[in-house]
Amino acid sequence: MKRHSWAEPFKIKMVELLKMTTPNERKKVIKEAGYNTFLLKSEDVYIDLLTDSGTSAMSDRQWAGMMTGDEAYAGSTNYYHLEDAVKKYYGYKYLVPTHQGRGAEHLISQILIKKGDIIPGNMYFTTTRLHQELAGATFVDIIIDEAHDAENEFPFKGNIDINKLEALIKKYGAKKIPYVCVATTVNMAGGQPISMENLKAVRALTLKHGIKIIHDMTRVAENAWFIKHREKGYAKKSVASIVKEICSLTDGGTMSAKKDAMVNIGGFLAINDWDVFEEARNMVVIYEGLHTYGGLAGRDMEAMAIGIAESVNDNHMDARIGQVLYLGDKIKEIGIPIVQPTGSHGVFLDASKILSQLSQDEFPAQTLAAELYLESGIRSMERGVVSAGRNIKTGKNHYPKLELVRLTIPRRVYTQAHMDVVAESVAAVYDRRKK
Ligand code: F0G
Repeated sequence: MKRHSWAEPFKIKMVELLKMTTPNERKKVIKEAGYNTFLLKSEDVYIDLLTDSGTSAMSDRQWAGMMTGDEAYAGSTNYYHLEDAVKKYYGYKYLVPTHQGRGAEHLISQILIKKGDIIPGNMYFTTTRLHQELAGATFVDIIIDEAHDAENEFPFKGNIDINKLEALIKKYGAKKIPYVCVATTVNMAGGQPISMENLKAVRALTLKHGIKIIHDMTRVAENAWFIKHREKGYAKKSVASIVKEICSLTDGGTMSAKKDAMVNIGGFLAINDWDVFEEARNMVVIYEGLHTYGGLAGRDMEAMAIGIAESVNDNHMDARIGQVLYLGDKIKEIGIPIVQPTGSHGVFLDASKILSQLSQDEFPAQTLAAELYLESGIRSMERGVVSAGRNIKTGKNHYPKLELVRLTIPRRVYTQAHMDVVAESVAAVYDRRKK
């Protein structure tokens, strides 16, 4: 018999006990939180699917690495270990550590963007776009149209629409476009991957025009897993080799190591251009800390170096994505509308369909997230009009096409039984959606 099931390539040696709440307790605390799951206290949460960011379980090796922290102000041994890991697994030449991803976004945006520039991207992440805007750029979404359609099952909904990119270059001129921001995988689209073929086409076009590619590499190993399993010619390649190939098609990356690399805090800017590196390592001193620690302790950099190596392991990634797909399949089987296909780091409920009686100004996704907490103490995250932010000039809401609730799965934290409880709770809320 062919074996179809996956299981975790680890066993559990320490557990964190959880508080179980009653419906009345939940009613009280969600009201106090203004029905905003971000304002709940974590001790009142049973299964915390707010985010996969900084919430993963570190391995025994990562914890052991924490004990070898070299807390020197300058030139910490752990910085050099991290530099080695970034070179070995991602192939980028120069490293500037930052306290997390947005620290790196701040540096690269300030260095590469001039007022009036255009930054095209395959959708956006909230902090990434805001840093681009604060540096004076206008962000333009050039993701393929399929990404805005929750039901479309295209396997690479993170792809860039090459025609949209060409049209932008024609309209504004390459000089106004310092870089294209390419995310692997695309969080706001539902954790959707970009294909290698598409990335190669973006590389060819940008090279022709002298435009850089800055890679939001936060979930690059997860993207690589999808390429391995969905793109022709990659089935026999390792996640590690695909990760390296992706990075080789870009000029540098901003990393939130709180995701793929499974640390509780940390990130970096990695870049191949010496001049940009020089500017970034001068600037990081002002905003984060000296260039050999960038807002982190030595121990954090050590855990990150080890976590990067663990993140590109094929068995790890099979179990990681396997668990997310398991939850996605369960919820889909019940007939509840979710973003298709299930993405890398969570299951995204289509709140505009589930609560179709609500207009976007009535925050359907925020409402659904609050109801799910009331149901069973599961915390999820709104990814809709609230997360989309306000127009920087007018203060008015942005209206994203997708109004989603994200059930984000931390890595190596919850069991399959937890996933079953989540699916059952979503089903219970769905059953009373008309009320
Ligand atoms: N880019 C992507 C694609 C992200 O998902 C995030 C964070 C960042 C950049 C910023 O990194 O948080 O380390 O500063 N996403 C988290 C989330 C917060 O819940 O999706 P950071």
